[in-house]
Amino acid sequence: MSKRVLTTESGAPVADNQNSATAGVGGPLLLQDQHLLEKLARFNRERIPERVVHARGSGAYGYFEVTDDVTGFTHADFLSTVGKRTETFIRFSTVADNLGGADAVRDPRGFALKFYTEEGNYDLVGNNTPVFFIKDPIKFPDFIHSQKRDPFTGKQEADNVWDFWAHAPEATHQITWLMGDRGIPASYRHMNGYGSHTYQWTNAEGEAFFVKYHFKTNQGIRSLSGEQAAEIAGKDPNSHQTDLLQAIERGVNPSWTLYVQLMPVAEADDYRFNPFDLTKVWPHKDYPLQRVGRLVLDRNPDNVFAEVEQAAFSPNNFVPGIGPSPDKMLQGRLFAYADAHRYRLGVNHTQLAVNAPKAANADNYGRDGLMASNAYGRDRKNYEPNSYDGPAETGRPLSAPLAVAGYTGTHEAPAHTKDDDFFQAGELFRLMSEDEKSRLIANIAGGLSQVSRDDVIEKNLAHFHAADAEYGKRVEEAVRALRED
Ligand code: HEM
Repeated sequence: MSKRVLTTESGAPVADNQNSATAGVGGPLLLQDQHLLEKLARFNRERIPERVVHARGSGAYGYFEVTDDVTGFTHADFLSTVGKRTETFIRFSTVADNLGGADAVRDPRGFALKFYTEEGNYDLVGNNTPVFFIKDPIKFPDFIHSQKRDPFTGKQEADNVWDFWAHAPEATHQITWLMGDRGIPASYRHMNGYGSHTYQWTNAEGEAFFVKYHFKTNQGIRSLSGEQAAEIAGKDPNSHQTDLLQAIERGVNPSWTLYVQLMPVAEADDYRFNPFDLTKVWPHKDYPLQRVGRLVLDRNPDNVFAEVEQAAFSPNNFVPGIGPSPDKMLQGRLFAYADAHRYRLGVNHTQLAVNAPKAANADNYGRDGLMASNAYGRDRKNYEPNSYDGPAETGRPLSAPLAVAGYTGTHEAPAHTKDDDFFQAGELFRLMSEDEKSRLIANIAGGLSQVSRDDVIEKNLAHFHAADAEYGKRVEEAVRALRED
């Protein structure tokens, strides 16, 4: 079988890919060896900046199929008909470690989903946890600095991790979640996904609902203990990638069932806690889960760099019928992601195949920039309004307007009757079996006992005491026992 011809990047045939050109036998290299120069220079430029968080991840294509009628709540076209399928791309990730970090670690997992709808791409950028550590985006860079590698020691430091949490009582719920049994998923297939934030749906009549998304794994929840994870992380640091890749290659297509919780907009103001507080869940007895459809992953990307490393998700990519809530964290994220992509991938990242709309057409007056491949030309005007047949606005907002009141300023979130930072952490603790509680306490104590300063330990203990008296007492005793060892 004759092989295809190897070429330079400009398409010229390469004569020799084994020996560089030299001045005579054994002499120095020649600057005219275009193939060598190009090969070395391209190699130097293979890496792009990694994501500042969620650097390590795995991706897959699939589809979302509507199984239940939700048209009373949203006019989103991709959710409009039972049986309707929409192509998707998902990227799962760990959060804290850099690219190259191990998969089997105690860390939240990213669950970033892109729906290629006929009305544009809809990105739902969630985690495997229904809550988060903080509730104001102004704290996010500090939070992440405290959890990633220390600039002096070059490694994650228990002192930094727990010092941040000592100053963040609102993190107690998420810490309880993370240190519990679901804190180390066995694989990306065996965990749930959550939108986490509250979003807004609007129906065809213009009625608005606040909505929370829950993707429940159909593979069942499976988690690892700290010891199991340490062993797996040593044997196969890419264990989640291996699992996802091989499952899909074998045709064992993972799936999740999507449920939503829906709150009529009028109920938000008087709900007993702030429904836009990302550190809290809405109890299912208040707002039951309603099934929407299923997500199936059935195709691995052909090229991890092109499709996974260059994937760009942005929580501000909404489609008609879906919009943001006033959740401050979400509002901060509406800015942060596309800004990160412009830095990491460039202004034209939306033209890359994995990020470009597939079922819709991007048609606007944005032009040029580095690596523009979307060449509008000829009689396509680059300004608007114009007297020609360029694209024009619809006059129809994607989601219903929300009422606001008061003065500008750096406010705390509006007060509700039961806003404290601890009660849901206590409820989660009390839901656990005795075995689960023991493992939770051991995990927390294992980390907290490594902290060098007593005052930082005390502040953290106060949070567990505030959540539940037994919880606080047991963590305190376990930390003391480990420090006396
Ligand atoms: C104000 C708070 C937050 C800020 C400022 C923030 C910012 C960022 C940034 C800059 C990235 C890297 C984006 C890239 O380079 O492609 C990122 C990734 C990510 N974030 Fe956040 N984040 C925040 C909170 C959250 C929350 C609450 C969640 C989940 C509910 C979340 C889920 C994710 C996921 C899943 C990714 C990875 C996306 C991917 O796979 O490409 N983040 N975040």
